Amino acid sequence: MTQGDTFVINGGKELIGKAEIYGAKNAVLPMLAASLLTDEEVEIKNCPNIADIQSMLILLREVGANVYVSGRNIRVRGQARTCDLSPQIEKVMRSSMFMLGALVSTLGEAKITMPGGCNIGKRPLDIHLAGLERLGAVCEQKDGVVTCHANGLVGNKVFMRYPSVGATENLIMAATLAKGKTTLINCAREPEIVSLVELLRAMGANIVGEGTSVVEIEGVDKLHGASVTPCADRIVAGTYLCALAICGGEICLDGIRKREVAQTLFALGKSVETCDDGVFLRARANGLSKSVGRRSQIYGFDDLSEAVACDLTTGPYPLFATDMQPIISAVKCFSTGIAKVKETVFENRFSHLVEMNKLGANVRISGDEALIFRGDLHAGQMQAKDLRGGAALAVFAMGIAGESRVSGAKFVARGYEDFAKSYRKLGADIRLE
Ligand code: EPZ
Repeated sequence: MTQGDTFVINGGKELIGKAEIYGAKNAVLPMLAASLLTDEEVEIKNCPNIADIQSMLILLREVGANVYVSGRNIRVRGQARTCDLSPQIEKVMRSSMFMLGALVSTLGEAKITMPGGCNIGKRPLDIHLAGLERLGAVCEQKDGVVTCHANGLVGNKVFMRYPSVGATENLIMAATLAKGKTTLINCAREPEIVSLVELLRAMGANIVGEGTSVVEIEGVDKLHGASVTPCADRIVAGTYLCALAICGGEICLDGIRKREVAQTLFALGKSVETCDDGVFLRARANGLSKSVGRRSQIYGFDDLSEAVACDLTTGPYPLFATDMQPIISAVKCFSTGIAKVKETVFENRFSHLVEMNKLGANVRISGDEALIFRGDLHAGQMQAKDLRGGAALAVFAMGIAGESRVSGAKFVARGYEDFAKSYRKLGADIRLE
């Protein structure tokens, strides 16, 4: 066990107070890559201070950009002068693949080692590479290294076989400076993509359709500097809501709108209530109501009126967010009734449930489905294996009396700013050891 890599949690404490929601990791990362599309200064405000962002800043400096950080504001100036990145950095995070589109577009070449990232699935890059080839790039994948070359990209029609978030972002970025028009079909629709396009449009890009399945980009000759604030992190906010549902109490989330966490609010059913002055949440002191265990199916919905709580199936937005699945699953371990969770986005995203079973949870996993029954929960030791799974284990332990230990806190540090301190501020008994 390495020093400072284990959460020690004494569960059963209510959460009371205010938490600030910063900019979304999954919007800031592609935005940082997009800053390479101009030699003028791009400023991204309200960025979280987390490991994945730190690694991305190292990558930007390695390719030759100047990076200035003051508080939560990051300024990047200058385009890439080389595409040689340090493999050891890329190995630890998948986000280096976001640079493919920007590097091929401006430098004419990109070379990245097959990105690392969470062990939640194989995570190939075939959709990214097929799309870049449609725009005129020549891409190769050999011995774990991806190389792409292009002598100027040319707009084209691109159909993505699956609405990949990263591929949609990479191809939009690549198309902004391509010659002519690009039509991307079967795009991912995540809010973080909409946020990225807001930056690109502020830089002078000509894009329509973001947030829908068809995005059209008219290439321009040059992009200029801009300053934007990314969308709030709906997964960080959703994690607080799940912790509230488990622990009870009353919290106010500052910097996010109810609509941005609509999916999580509905999956939590009546276990949390909200008021209109921002997202002000109160869970019943006696823990979860029966509604969280109520059987019904959430497939995704566009507004608060359509959904009913409980069984859920993850999928591309607006279906239920795969990143919230581990954390919502933790809540379901406390609810009465039987809940079914179906994970359709990644092929290996139930490792947290195996760990929760060690503490008395009663989860039966079969392929991409998990059936969650009420268990006889007790404190104990668990091992995090990925970012959102680690957050789920910590939130799970907060609901169980006694001292639990969650090793692998470094995974959580990739996507949450000072997780233990943030929850201690709300009254949780959690420290890093
Ligand atoms: C982004 O990853 C997010 N990461 C993930 O969040 C998120 O879970 C995921 O989108 C889905 O919403 C960032 O934005 C940095 P995908 P990405 O391409 O772009 C397969 C977190 O916890 N696929 O939409 O890598 C892939 O294997 C992280 O913050 C291909 O087969 O996700 C997966 O099964 C975890 N070929 C599915 O598509 C490809 O070329 C969805 O992947 C690309 C993807």
